[in-house]
Amino acid sequence: MSEETLSNLSREERRFAPPEALAAEANVTADWYDKAAEDRVAFWAEQAGRLHWDQPWDRVLDWDDPPFAKWFVGGKLNASVNCVDRHVDAGRGDKVAFHWVGEPEDDARSITYAELKDEVCKAANALTELGVRTGDRVAIYMPMIPETVVTMLACARLGAPHTVVFGGFSADALASRIVDCEAHVVVTADGGYRRGAPSALKPAVDEAVAKSGDVVRKVLVVRRTGQDLGDAGWDDTRDVWWHDAVDSASAEHTPESFDSEHPLYVMYTSGTTGKPKGILHTTGGYLVGSAYTHWGIFDLKPETDVYWCTADIGWVTGHSYMVYGPLANGTTSVMYEGTPDSPHKGRWWEIIEKYGVTLFYTAPTAIRTFMKWGSDIPAKFDLSSLRLLGSVGEPINPEAYIWYRETIGAGQTPVVDTWWQTETGAIMISPLPGVTHGKPGSAMKAIPGVAADVVDDEGKPVPNGSGGFLVLTEPWPSMLRTLWGDDERFKDTYWSRFRSQGYYFAGDGAKKDDDGDIWLLGRVDDVMNVSGHRLSTTEIESALVSHPKVAEAAVVGAADEMTGQAVCAFVILRDEVVGDGGDNADIVAELRTHVAKEIGAIAKPRQIMIVPELPKTRSGKIMRRLLKDVAEDRQVGDVTTLADSTVMDLISSNLQGGK
Ligand code: WTA
Repeated sequence: MSEETLSNLSREERRFAPPEALAAEANVTADWYDKAAEDRVAFWAEQAGRLHWDQPWDRVLDWDDPPFAKWFVGGKLNASVNCVDRHVDAGRGDKVAFHWVGEPEDDARSITYAELKDEVCKAANALTELGVRTGDRVAIYMPMIPETVVTMLACARLGAPHTVVFGGFSADALASRIVDCEAHVVVTADGGYRRGAPSALKPAVDEAVAKSGDVVRKVLVVRRTGQDLGDAGWDDTRDVWWHDAVDSASAEHTPESFDSEHPLYVMYTSGTTGKPKGILHTTGGYLVGSAYTHWGIFDLKPETDVYWCTADIGWVTGHSYMVYGPLANGTTSVMYEGTPDSPHKGRWWEIIEKYGVTLFYTAPTAIRTFMKWGSDIPAKFDLSSLRLLGSVGEPINPEAYIWYRETIGAGQTPVVDTWWQTETGAIMISPLPGVTHGKPGSAMKAIPGVAADVVDDEGKPVPNGSGGFLVLTEPWPSMLRTLWGDDERFKDTYWSRFRSQGYYFAGDGAKKDDDGDIWLLGRVDDVMNVSGHRLSTTEIESALVSHPKVAEAAVVGAADEMTGQAVCAFVILRDEVVGDGGDNADIVAELRTHVAKEIGAIAKPRQIMIVPELPKTRSGKIMRRLLKDVAEDRQVGDVTTLADSTVMDLISSNLQGGK
């Protein structure tokens, strides 16, 4: 977002007060800010009381060796017991945990907490049978089906950290994650339903396993689509059907208590280098953070609310706000397998009407897509059950916020724009639905218990009305503990920029408006945000240069009305290719397919421009800022620091010639 758009935005005058009825019954009230700030550690200890601890902690926070935090030190608990058993033990076994909706119509089932507990226990026994032991990593590459949640909880029950890899990632991406965290067991499905058709997953697992040396010993496979796996698609010594291994397993499983700091999961996310970072979350603090925020920011009333988060489980939002937060709170949730336009563009609204969804959490990119499809589509459905709407993943532009509030929320519901990251584990900055007078486009301020600021290059807080870098100034329970196997990179990436202040550097730019409320401005590093998905420019550049026809590549995220940012690549071809008179259109198509194969379809560049040169500084650094100007069709900015200032003219004339 440019400075100009931003100052226009901050002049946005509309304010939305919380609905009176909601405010009167709100879970979190205005006094919580002061209460939490007075004694942050005591505040978090109180929040930890939401969970069942087998052994209480001796110390709330150990910050003796920053940035390595320990929360609820000495405490013991089991995450899966907190998410299922204790609700059953408290007599709520008949309550629905998930209304699961498959993409094919009429393919739905509701699963109670008691049923979920049985499934988790069976899966835990089956995984044990397959050799999984406490501390072992399990990779999960699954569609949006109940077995995915069951597998995560079964892993948590065994103290075996899971690493869920988004089903849209390629076999190569899956393999690199399997190898990085040495997962001996992979859980997958034959496929899932997407856009009205079965979409295979198992072949990618086979390819990934083959690329992972001898790391993978067992692959557990759910039969979802019944797709033909072909003769080569099954390895009798390695592959096991879920219905053989899990269905016959015992539903009795005695859980063990784990240390509060026992690893719960690793989630890979894009960083500024080509290699994805394995974000490590541990048990106690993460569960406290996700449960508290889910309850407080969505104003959850577990007895009456029906909650739906549309994220994929392969992303952190799916972990914290489809699985751990909601289940720890005993929520009834909706889970939907497919795409929003299958079989018709009103599918989401139909689901909200059918299940009486009250709390709804989605991403700006989806909202903008629905805006484009037209308000008449949601108007055909009864959405009056909704009482709160949430947004996550990227800045929500005021038009989208207003449309969301008006068209989906009948002009009544609060919209909570929640800022957080894979690294933070839980929401950090957000309005409070019963307290905040929301401003369209602003995530407002840090929630009670969290301390955030916007600082300048030196780490000094900027005055109201100015912009800078977003930082978190105090440790919080659901913070990442390290990067899997790479403490140094953990320190460098997040804690070196403002080392003397001890601040966590989020990598986002932000501005404080005249009231001191925070407006997020997007990444300040080489990470792009495409439809709320984090992608690394360097990772896509590496994928491009791994193609034999490419000599050099530079990738930028260009503003895009629908997806927030879009991937734009500038590519220099090898001399022998340039000379062979081939058609650039063919090469562009070939390169797009190549990126999809290397990383996944989500990383496919929207645009690939074949250029003769790239703009570089005298020290050889590519000036992405100038390429961004080209990609966004703007006048090219200051070129004086280029080693060869004519390069941009060359690029521009070459592109015009090519049009
Ligand atoms: C961006 C997703 C503006 C931000 C939970 C952050 C946002 C990155 C918002 C993390 C928001 C997330 N407003 N920007 N409400 N929420 N972001 O790790 O750039 O996939 O650093 O976590 O998304 O993406 P991640």
